[in-house]
Amino acid sequence: MLTSILRLGLLLGVALLPLTVWAQAAPALKSVSVDLPAGVQMFPGGTAADPINNNCLACHSADMVLNQPALSKAAWEAVVKKMINVYKAPIAEADVPPIVAYLATTKGSAGE
Ligand code: HEC
Repeated sequence: MLTSILRLGLLLGVALLPLTVWAQAAPALKSVSVDLPAGVQMFPGGTAADPINNNCLACHSADMVLNQPALSKAAWEAVVKKMINVYKAPIAEADVPPIVAYLATTKGSAGE
């Protein structure tokens, strides 16, 4: 009898343990301010950048593209085709060559 009472007490103690954790005061929340670096919003380069600005900013930033490694013209063309075929970017056929040219000029590399 005594052991079963002890067992019950032990069980209750274990079962109620989480409640004592809940009862602790919640930590006070306070706001912090964080300075994030300002991203490049648009592709630089005036009218030469119009096709890429018009077609490539719907899903990600210009920064995201400009921070990629330099690629060959063929590799940039493959990236643009991937945006169209895989990610379904609605880009007109006619806009592809000026976009690839812009990328090859701005972020181009000689190699493959
Ligand atoms: C319909 C949405 C959409 C549009 C429009 C779009 N992209 Fe993307 N792009 C994506 C997605 C999704 C990813 C993958 C993001 C990730 O991996 O986090 C991506 C990734 C990229 C990358 C990173 C490298 C890679 O191959 O994943 C580059 C560079 C890129 N896009 C360039 C472009 C260019 C240039 C254009 C315009 C021709 C463009 N994107 C338009 C959706 C889009």
